[in-house]
Amino acid sequence: MTNSVKPIIAQTITHAVIPVAGFGTRMLPLSKSIPKELLPLGNRPAIHYVVEEAIAAGIKHIVLVGHAQKSAIENYFDINSELDSQLRAKGKEGLADSLNWLPDDVSVSMIRQGKPLGLGHAVLSARPIIGDNNFAVLLPDVVLNPFTTDMTQDNLAFMLSEFAKSAHSQILVSEVADNDIHKYGIAKLKSVSDIKSNLADGNASFAVAGFVEKPSLAEAPSNLAVVGRYVFSHRIFDYLADTKPSVGGEIQLTDAIDALISTEGVNVTTMVGDSFDAGDMTSYMRAFIYFAERQLSQQ
Ligand code: G1P
Repeated sequence: MTNSVKPIIAQTITHAVIPVAGFGTRMLPLSKSIPKELLPLGNRPAIHYVVEEAIAAGIKHIVLVGHAQKSAIENYFDINSELDSQLRAKGKEGLADSLNWLPDDVSVSMIRQGKPLGLGHAVLSARPIIGDNNFAVLLPDVVLNPFTTDMTQDNLAFMLSEFAKSAHSQILVSEVADNDIHKYGIAKLKSVSDIKSNLADGNASFAVAGFVEKPSLAEAPSNLAVVGRYVFSHRIFDYLADTKPSVGGEIQLTDAIDALISTEGVNVTTMVGDSFDAGDMTSYMRAFIYFAERQLSQQ
């Protein structure tokens, strides 16, 4: 790894990585033959909302990191020409058009992870496509509420604009209950007053000292959890390439972020609105009911 610290050029970010290689064991039996990312939230698969969020924030190139059993996700974002012509032949133009919702200037591609070595390794697997572009990462288990948040300005969109101003990587965080702390990466703040002065209305971005992956409550340095939205300088790839397995025997993204902090500015961004965990059965069922009720009330 080279440490000749050239300044990161904060050009507009148009690339995003969505890791989809997980087996979804917490969602069995639903996820036995359907990728968990394609399970419905109301009338759309969960990952549809995550891709819409990325596009609303200005992302144009989406890289899914998956494996052989996940090709149905790539197909969801492709045009099914046979279905398209069948629908049009039957005069169902509106339905055919609604399936081709992905804007023409947005591409979705898939690359394979190869071995299941953890989230950090999944992100590193996208390097051949992302190259020297700075990029966003969206974890598809986390679905931000599209009914109460303006995706063109809040959260990911805000993080991208902060990166454009400062070239500091941005990590979205949100307060979690004590009994959920062990499930998340937890932020170590530079000063306790940071949290008091920044948990106001609207997103706020401030420098962070580091992260601890899935600590016990006693070890947790705060109650601010990594939510699953990141904006990275491409230099994170150098650190990921050097990161050894740690918690759970996996190559952790949070370890590479800690290493990045030693040479570049890294900020947390506080989240606005609420989010759903679509990778956990109880939260998923609640999220399904929420999305279904919202959509039924709009009909
Ligand atoms: C991952 C990250 C963790 C983050 C979480 C958000 O954990 O490693 O830092 O808080 O996503 O959902 P995972 O849920 O993949 O175990």
